[in-house]
Amino acid sequence: MIKVKVVGCGGYGGVGIVELLLRHPHVKIQTLVAATETGMLMSDLYPHLKGFCDLRIHKPDEPAAQEPADVVFFSTPDGVGMVQAPAELAKGARVIDYSGDFRFNNTADYAEYARRIGRDPVHKAPELLPQTVYGLPELNRQNYAKDQRLVGNVGCFAMSCLLGLAPAAAAKLIDFRSVICDCKTGVSGAGKKATPIHHYPARYENMQAYRLSGHQHVMEIERMLGQLADEAVPVTFTAQVLPICRGIMACLYGTLRDGITREQVWAAYADYHRANSFVRLYDSKTAIGTANVRGSNFCDLVVDVDERTRRLRVISHIDNLVKGQAGNALQNMNLICGFPENTGLDFPGSYP
Ligand SMILES: NC(=O)c1ccc[n+]([C@@H]2O[C@H](COP(=O)([O-])OP(=O)(O)OC[C@H]3O[C@@H](n4cnc5c(N)ncnc54)[C@H](OP(=O)(O)O)[C@@H]3O)[C@@H](O)[C@H]2O)c1
Repeated sequence: MIKVKVVGCGGYGGVGIVELLLRHPHVKIQTLVAATETGMLMSDLYPHLKGFCDLRIHKPDEPAAQEPADVVFFSTPDGVGMVQAPAELAKGARVIDYSGDFRFNNTADYAEYARRIGRDPVHKAPELLPQTVYGLPELNRQNYAKDQRLVGNVGCFAMSCLLGLAPAAAAKLIDFRSVICDCKTGVSGAGKKATPIHHYPARYENMQAYRLSGHQHVMEIERMLGQLADEAVPVTFTAQVLPICRGIMACLYGTLRDGITREQVWAAYADYHRANSFVRLYDSKTAIGTANVRGSNFCDLVVDVDERTRRLRVISHIDNLVKGQAGNALQNMNLICGFPENTGLDFPGSYP
């Protein structure tokens, strides 16, 4: 059995990975760590886990929190993993970090990312950046080292956009100067701690676009699409928050290149995602919404061609807390530990 530590267990991504790990056949949850909600049992904090996960939550500086593990998940805000991961790696653990700390391979890219979220641009563990991999198996599994020890899990909006646009970029279906990512997320995308703009009265019956320029996920999207297309792919990206709990719906658009047919679009999408069991393709006749992926690691793509305007239109649906966060982190654990990618993740979620 693989022994796992979850740092940040009290937040949404922490409880999410605990829920998933409980069904994993090769994992024992050994250590739970949080910052302020400590000393209590996980099942006191999350009563739905009573009888399933009754472990005590430790402070980061307690000896119990330092116990070596085989895999450590950092479900923590930006800046925590880069300080604590070196010690875990030195003890022999594999580390999967949910934040932007390890999504970039060099200090310059990290500095630009940090600037966008208002953080110190100086990375605290720059020696680790060449060792990390961008944790998006569907696009990047060929770039994981044989003994990959450090993974930067993907941003949730980036996940929805990249799974939806990768086939179009790789097969050069669209004019790369015409890409629009129009993305809606549920309120859980901001994490567990309520702020004035995230609590109920501010969100009820309210839809809102935010951070119109300089959103940090645009960097990830443009970098990966650029690699697939072998040329720059600038995207117009609009993040919006809707009064739902979980789910991302990304409406993705690009002008089709001359001569590209609907059949070629479908062939390119089917071909690209053939090996990606968590990506399901639909035509526009099937009614798909975020409820179809709720609680699951699936990404449901509605692939459509607007013949009248000659535009590709892809509607990408994920659960931001599963394929956009904890589920993808577990998929990454499976990949770097040698298990089939869908181990512990092969279930359809809950509808409605
Ligand atoms: N929410 C999403 O949809 C989503 C999607 C993709 C990626 N992400 C990323 O995933 C990470 C976690 O997000 P979240 O939404 O789960 O946040 P969250 O609900 O706010 O949870 C964060 C957790 O980190 C803990 N923590 C903070 N500082 C810590 C430290 N120094 N040592 C140990 N634990 C510490 C907090 O503990 P206390 O509560 O005890 O203070 C809390 O349990 C973030 O980097 C976020 O950007 C989020």
